[in-house]
Amino acid sequence: MSVLNDALNWRYAAKRMNGDTVPADRIERILDAIHLAPSSFGLQPYTVLVIDSPALRQRIQDQAAQQPQITECSHLLIFAAWDPVEESAVDELIGRIAAERGVPSEELAAYRDTIKGTVRGKTPEQRVEWAARQAYIGLGHALSAAALEQVDASPMEGFDPAELDHLLDLQSQGLRSVVLVALGYRDTDTDWLAGLKKVRWPRERTIQSVG
Ligand SMILES: Cc1cc2nc3c(=O)[nH]c(=O)nc-3n(C[C@H](O)[C@H](O)[C@H](O)COP(=O)(O)O)c2cc1C
Repeated sequence: MSVLNDALNWRYAAKRMNGDTVPADRIERILDAIHLAPSSFGLQPYTVLVIDSPALRQRIQDQAAQQPQITECSHLLIFAAWDPVEESAVDELIGRIAAERGVPSEELAAYRDTIKGTVRGKTPEQRVEWAARQAYIGLGHALSAAALEQVDASPMEGFDPAELDHLLDLQSQGLRSVVLVALGYRDTDTDWLAGLKKVRWPRERTIQSVG
């Protein structure tokens, strides 16, 4: 066992939380872990909205099957894919790499063209799906980082993305919600799932050695 794997055994998708606030330094480290997540070409085509307002979380809960974690958590994260993913973002990325690494942009022209070729090869809907896949890598980082912080994290797809986008006016910001994470602390008195054994397929069904 490693420190990470111990933490992953400890974590579960808490269904009920106790309303306690997660300290700001822990939230920041979880957000940093999301920020450090890898992405295709390093484009990071998603935005994470951090919601701590109880009133807003109440309204979001109405679009999410009344899941209790949304109002009982400390912070709610909304992973939102960029929509559209525009070629101008590729130019911005190239400019940033050049500036951060002190490399002339011209030296990155081939890389830029490769990324643009990938973006151009996708329909607008395929671009959003591609962006969403990158967001899910950030989600994985969030869940692992939260576990290391002994903070409970409940991922949720059980919401109406179109309604949530409408509520938060995400379309005008070029965003489309894809997955939520409630960060907080499990309520062991009310959560039926607390303390139950973790269930996974036999390891060899998921992990197979080939060759
Ligand atoms: C992408 C994703 C979406 C999920 N959506 C929900 C959800 O809307 N509501 C919920 O109670 N659990 C949700 N879950 C939690 C899963 O049911 C849970 O992760 C799975 O059963 C494995 O259990 P564990 O995470 O507790 O180990 C979601 C998990 C993931 C990864």
